[in-house]
Formats: sequence, structure tokens, C-alpha cells
Amino acid sequence: MWLAILLCGCQNIPEGASVLDVGTGCGIQAIVASQRAERVLGVDVNPDAVLLAGENAGLNGVLNVEFLVSDLFENVCGIFDVVLFNTPYLLEDACGVESTAWAGGAEREVVSRFLDDAKNHLEEDGFMVLVTSDACGSECLEKMFSGGGYEFELAGSEKVFFEDLLCYRLWVRKSKKKVEPP
Ligand SMILES: C[S@@+](CC[C@H](N)C(=O)[O-])C[C@H]1O[C@@H](n2cnc3c(N)ncnc32)[C@H](O)[C@@H]1O
Repeated sequence: MWLAILLCGCQNIPEGASVLDVGTGCGIQAIVASQRAERVLGVDVNPDAVLLAGENAGLNGVLNVEFLVSDLFENVCGIFDVVLFNTPYLLEDACGVESTAWAGGAEREVVSRFLDDAKNHLEEDGFMVLVTSDACGSECLEKMFSGGGYEFELAGSEKVFFEDLLCYRLWVRKSKKKVEPP
């Protein structure tokens, strides 16, 4: 819940943006984003989550959001201005679809796969907002961001019980243009 609240506060969706909410769960990020976005796609690996998200969007009278089942970007077509991901951040392997809500793999496999593909679904000036916890090892995560070709900043954090929840904003690093000698 705290993770969701933190991400809601850090979304900063530009008016009229296209938004992809990865790991949409109950659809909360997608529904909040839909207030400023032109269109939102929410995806989740858990088909029950996708059904619930659709019901929640209906209950909230939201018309510019679509949901579909997808393992990360597997069934996602197109590129987006903003990609959101409230990650399953515990360093455990998922065991059954329910545990994918919190278990992101002992070696951070879910975030690693996410970072590999996310840049292919981002507009040139797009950005991503990713929520995790220092329990996932922020130093290691930050190395993964840089190693994956992203620049990043910490957009927000919240101390909750035994951990710091962290909200990162990431964007694709622009390669520096080579200056040709005169
Ligand atoms: C921490 S929950 C976030 C839920 C919701 N976005 C929120 O902010 O409350 C993580 C979500 O990611 C989903 N998820 C985990 N692994 C995934 C994957 N490989 N592809 C898509 N969704 C995944 C889980 O099913 C779960 O709904």
C-alpha cells in the first residue's frame, strides 16, 4: 500500500501523455494516471489482477484505460511517454502467480528483465517511474540502472517500519554525439 501511495505521488504525468503501467495489480496507478494521460495501458502477469483492475476502472468511470495480461512487455505493442512500475521487490523467487506481487527473484530478475526491454517502449523524451525498497539493495539497483543505459534520480522516499521505500525516475541515457575534428 505504501509503495502504491509513494508512486501515486511521484507520477508527474504530463497532460495528454501515453502511459504504460507495468504490474498494474488492482489498477491504482493506471487509474490515477488516467486523470492526466490521454491513454493508459495497464498490464499484469496475473490474470486475476487484470480482471480486478478492469472492474476498478469501471467503478471509477474511467474510459481511457485498457488492461491486458502480459509478462512485462511480452504483449505490449507501441511506445509510451511514461512507464510506471511498482515492482515486486522482495529478493525471493516467485512460487505461484500470487507471490509475483512481492517476489521479484533472488537475483532481481524481474527488474533486470524490465530494464532490458523498457527502453524499447519509451518515447525519446519519455521517462519511467519505478518503486522499490532499500531492502532490494539500492546500490545494486542503481548499478543495474546505469549498466542498462539509463540515467536516474531518486524522486521520493518514505521510511516505513524497517525499510526505506524508494521511488526512482529513469530515462534513457542519450549517447554523446561525437564531435568531428574540423
Ligand atoms: C507491488 S505490486 C504493485 C501493484 C500496483 N501497481 C500498485 O501500485 O499497487 C507488483 C505487481 O507486479 C505484478 N508482476 C509481477 N511480476 C510481473 C511480470 N513479470 N509481468 C507483469 N506483472 C508482474 C504482480 O502481479 C503485482 O500485481
